[in-house]
Amino acid sequence: MEQIIMYPGEVGKDAVDWKAIQGQHVTAVVRNILVLGSGGREHALAWKLAQGEGAHVFIAPGNAGTAEVGTNVNIKVSDLGGIKKFCLDNEIGLVVVGPEQPLVDGIVDYFKNDEQLQKVRIIGPDRRGAQLEGSKAYAKEFMARNGIPTARCLTVNQANLKDGEAFLRTLQAPYVLKADGLAAGKGVLILENLDEAISELGNMLGGKFGTASATVVIEEFLSGIECSVFVLTDGEHYVLLPEAKDYKRIGDGDKGLNTGGMGAVSPVPFCTPDFLQKVEDRIVKPTLKGLKTENIDYKGFIFLGLMNCGGDPYVIEYNVRMGDPETEAVMTRIEGDFADLLYACADGCLDQVHYAKSPLTAVTVMLVSGGYPEAYQKGKVMTGLNSLKDCVAFHAGTAFNAEGQVVTAGGRVIAVTAQGNSILEAREKAYENVVKIQFEGENHRHDIGLDLLLTPHS
Ligand code: AMP
Ligand code: GLY
Repeated sequence: MEQIIMYPGEVGKDAVDWKAIQGQHVTAVVRNILVLGSGGREHALAWKLAQGEGAHVFIAPGNAGTAEVGTNVNIKVSDLGGIKKFCLDNEIGLVVVGPEQPLVDGIVDYFKNDEQLQKVRIIGPDRRGAQLEGSKAYAKEFMARNGIPTARCLTVNQANLKDGEAFLRTLQAPYVLKADGLAAGKGVLILENLDEAISELGNMLGGKFGTASATVVIEEFLSGIECSVFVLTDGEHYVLLPEAKDYKRIGDGDKGLNTGGMGAVSPVPFCTPDFLQKVEDRIVKPTLKGLKTENIDYKGFIFLGLMNCGGDPYVIEYNVRMGDPETEAVMTRIEGDFADLLYACADGCLDQVHYAKSPLTAVTVMLVSGGYPEAYQKGKVMTGLNSLKDCVAFHAGTAFNAEGQVVTAGGRVIAVTAQGNSILEAREKAYENVVKIQFEGENHRHDIGLDLLLTPHS
C-alpha cells in the first residue's frame, strides 16, 4: 500500500507508528526540524539530520556552514517568542536544542507549558533535568543519591567556608574547585598548592565567576584519562551514541590554556566493550533510574564526562547536550536516519528504531583564530574550502561578509573531520585537508589522536 506521511504530526496523537509502516511503500515524508545554536556541534547535527528521509532542517541562528545543509533563520536561541512563532508558522515537528543555556533557562518547560507548542517535539531535558549541568552541586547530590561513581566532594558557600578549608586539608594535591553554576566552561580550577587552593576558594565565593561561583564544589582529584560518552534517552529506553575523546588545551601535548575543544577522536581505543559495559551498568542505568525516581521527564542527550581510572569509569561531569567538538566526530559515525532516532526519542519509542555505529574511526581537527582562547580578531576571509576532499568541514564560527565571502566569526572557526580504518589513516586525511584551509592567524593542534596510539588499552 502506498502511503504519504506528513510528519510534523502531533506528539502522541498522530505520531508515526514505526511498526505499522514497516514494509510499506512510503512515497513522501515531510519533516521540518529546527536546530537551535550556531556552532560546529549544530552544523554537525544539522548535517546528519538533513540526510534523514524528507527532512528539511532550519538552523537558528546557524552560520555559513549550516546554510549549506539547511535554511538559516535569524532568531536567537534566547528569543522564545520568536522561536514559538517560527515553529508554528513553519510546521516544525522537532526542535533540537544544541547548547545548554536555553535548557538551563527552561526552553523545554516553555514548550511543555504552551498549549500551541505542546504538539512540537523538543529534544532536551526540562529545567529540572538541566540542573544536572546547570548546578554541579545538584549533580553531585544526584550522583550520591543514586550510587553513581564520582570524586568525593564537599559543597561550600560563604556560610561553611571553614568546613571547605578543612576539607581541602584532608585532600592530596592537586585540588579541584568548581563553580556551581554555568561559567562558559571556565569555572573549574585545578591547583597544585594548598594555600593557593584556600585563597582561590575565597576568591570564587567572592564572585570570581560572578554568581556562578557563589557556591563551589571542592572535589578530590581523579587521575586517569578522560572520555566523553553520549546517551540518547526517551526516559524509558536509551542508546549509547559513539563515544569520543576531546582535546581541551590549546597547544600540542596538552599544553597551554583550556579551550572549548581543539579536536576529537571516535571511537576511543581505551573505551573497550568491557569498559563501556561498566559505564552502562554503573552510570547510565543508575542515572536513568534516578531521573525516573525523581520524576524528571528526560528526553534528550546525556553527555557523560568520564575519567577512566585504571579501567573503572567515574563521572567528572554531566552535560545535558552533545559535546563540541565531539559531535563533529560522532555524527559521522552514526549510521542510518538520525532524524528517525530523534523523532522516536521524543515520542518515547527509541526501542523501535534501528541504530548502528560505523566501525570507522573519525578524527576531528579544530581550526581556530590566532590568539584564541584569549582575544582574537574576526572577519578574516577564508580560502581553500572548495578544495577539500574526503572529509567534512563543520563550521564553528563563520559568517558571510558583505561580498558573500566566508569569513571567521569566532574563536573556534571550523572543524575538519575525516574517517579512516585507523586513527592514523583518519588523522592523515584530516590533516591533508586542514592545511588547505587558510585565513590570517589560523592555528590548530597537530597531535590530535596521537596520544591514543600510545595509550595502553586499560
Ligand atoms: P568540568 O567542567 O567539570 O568538565 O571540568 C573541566 C575539566 O577539569 C575536566 O574536563 C577535567 O579535565 C578536569 N577535572 C574536573 N574534575 C576533575 C577531577 N575531580 N579530577 C581530575 N580532573 C578533573
Ligand atoms: N567538549 C566538551 C564540551 O562540549 O563541553
